[in-house]
Amino acid sequence: MSRPLILGIETSCDETGVAVVSGNEILATVLSSQVDEHSRFGGVVPEVAARAHVEAIRPMVHMALRQAGVHSDQLDAVAATRGPGLVGALMVGYSFAKAMAWTLDTPFVGVDHMEGHLFAPRLEHTEFEPPAIVLLASGGHSQIVHVRNWGEYEILGATIDDAAGEAFDKIARFMGLGFPGGPAIDKAADGGDPDIVRFPRALRDQPYNFSFSGLKTSVITYLEKAKASNSVPPLPDVAAAVQEAIVDVLVAKTFNATTATGVNRVAGGGGVLANRRLRSKLQAEADKRGVALHLPSPALCTDNGAMIAAAGEFRLERGETTPWGLDVSSSLRLGS
Ligand code: KG4
Ligand code: ZN
Repeated sequence: MSRPLILGIETSCDETGVAVVSGNEILATVLSSQVDEHSRFGGVVPEVAARAHVEAIRPMVHMALRQAGVHSDQLDAVAATRGPGLVGALMVGYSFAKAMAWTLDTPFVGVDHMEGHLFAPRLEHTEFEPPAIVLLASGGHSQIVHVRNWGEYEILGATIDDAAGEAFDKIARFMGLGFPGGPAIDKAADGGDPDIVRFPRALRDQPYNFSFSGLKTSVITYLEKAKASNSVPPLPDVAAAVQEAIVDVLVAKTFNATTATGVNRVAGGGGVLANRRLRSKLQAEADKRGVALHLPSPALCTDNGAMIAAAGEFRLERGETTPWGLDVSSSLRLGS
């Protein structure tokens, strides 16, 4: 039996992502990135994001449908991110999707953005099934989730301050590497030696929680002192050391969860999972322990419409369409 044809729309932050998906088949996925609009401010400006989504949403939806060779009245559902995210940005995609579903007389599904990241690995790894430990790390969230079943999530740990992506972004900004900081540090760390400098790993006494704001402070303090004494190490070494400090704790705490739960399957989602060092360290640890690892390809780690369609299909199949009166929720929490 063919799987439903779903249009997925993502506008929670600074990417207008639209995709047409049927089961594991991504018929089209398009993205309009706002990096240029935000980079001169050094971070995402909510009003600028909302306005850019308004401009991009219609052409992106048309482009995705055209690329997929699908007419809108063939769609079985329209799914859009309901939260968490920037409220003005969310409203653009969510309202557009709702209006489209209403006009087409087809179901509308509001999707939790983090559940979207959680379903992303399944688009390429059909064998990814619960129970699993999933590391979700993005610009706004860092969580270790025990997926007991699809739709049944226990958040084992989360960041108590900055998210991992936020740490990459803030530290990169201080180092003058530009925005977004994650890809910039990933690139700057090429060929660097992560052991020349060792930045602290926080919350060692807690198995699953993260803290990244102290890392930012110690990088700033270290670089200011090193500058004063004219002893700043080469950029690749500093970038590699920063990256290592973030990656180390993400990997260690993910596998704390497999040990404690006995679950032998790990997956990941969110922009930070595009990080090459994180991917290789997760793979090495998974191999060492005989644990299966399912990572989406980098373009499906960062925000995209396909993951929203995938999570939307799951909710649709359970009969959980979203009432027309339900609004966006900027602080939506996975599993609530
Ligand atoms: O999931 P995502 O695209 O958007 C949010 O939901 O926040 O994640 C964006 C975050 C940003 O903080 C960005 O710097 C980070 O993911 N990121 C990376 C890499 N690519 C994106 N962090 C580290 N290494 C990367 N290669
Ligand atoms: Zn995201």
